[in-house]
Amino acid sequence: MDQRPVGVFDSGVGGLTAVRELRNLLPSENIIYFGDTSRVPYGGRSEEILLKYARQDVHFLRSFDIKAILVACGTVSTTCLPKLQRENDLPILGVVEPACRRAVELTRNKRVGLIATAASVRSGAYETSVAGMDPSVEVVARACPLFVPLVENGRYKPGDVVIETVAREYLSSMQEAGVDTLILGCTHYPLLMEVIGQVMGPEVTLINAGAEAARSMRQALHSGGMLAEGRTGDATLYASDQPSDFGTMARQFLQEELTKPVLPVDIDRY
Ligand code: DGL
Repeated sequence: MDQRPVGVFDSGVGGLTAVRELRNLLPSENIIYFGDTSRVPYGGRSEEILLKYARQDVHFLRSFDIKAILVACGTVSTTCLPKLQRENDLPILGVVEPACRRAVELTRNKRVGLIATAASVRSGAYETSVAGMDPSVEVVARACPLFVPLVENGRYKPGDVVIETVAREYLSSMQEAGVDTLILGCTHYPLLMEVIGQVMGPEVTLINAGAEAARSMRQALHSGGMLAEGRTGDATLYASDQPSDFGTMARQFLQEELTKPVLPVDIDRY
C-alpha cells in the first residue's frame, strides 16, 4: 500500500481523459494534475522544446511527494518518455504502448488508423510500438493540428459546425484507408469521441489513449504493491494559465464537482 498521490500532466485539458478513467478505476488514489495551459498546444513544437517543457512539468509534479507519473500527453509520450524515465527514479508511464496494445488486440482487418499531433505522427512511435507487437498490422497515420486548439476553446460538441467540418476533412483519409480501429493518439481527442464516431461510423472501434494509459497505471501500481487503500481519493488540479476557465472545462469533463479551485502555477520557476 502507498497513500502518496499519482502525478498526471498534459499541455491542457486533454489529460483529464486519463484522470477520468483513473478516478473510475482507482477511487482511493489522490491525483495531482498539471495542465500547461500557458503553453498549449505542444503538438507543433520541436523535440528540444518539448523535452524542456516535459522536464519542467515533471519537476513541478515532483515538488509533491508523488509515487508515480502518468504522462497523459501523446506528444510528450512519443517524443520524450525514455529520457524522462532515465532521469527519474519513480515509475513514469506514457500513453503509446497501452493504446497500441489495445488496437492490436481489437483490429480484425489489421488496418489501424492513428490520429495524433504533428509531433507524435512525425516521431513514428505508434508505428514502432505496433510493429513490435504484431508486424502484420498496418498503421495509417494522420496529424490533426486543429483539433487541440478547438477542444481547448470548448468547440468539441456534436452539432458544432466548425469541429464537424474539420473532423470530416481530417478523417477522410482514415475512411479511404478502410481502418477498422482508430487510435485517438492525442489525449485531447477523446473529447471528440462523439464527433469522430459520427464520421467514422459504428464499425470502427475508437481507442482512447488516455483511458488505456490509466488502465496500465492501475496494473503498474497493483504489481508494485503501490495501490492506495481505505479512503476516498481526490484530484487536485493545477494550470499554468487561466485556472478558472480550466476549472469550468474540467468540471464538465470529469462530470464531478471539484472540491477545490484549480490552482495557478508559474511553470517557469521549475
Ligand atoms: N494532449 C496532448 C497530446 O496527447 C497535447 C496536444 C497538444 O498540446 O498539442 O498530444
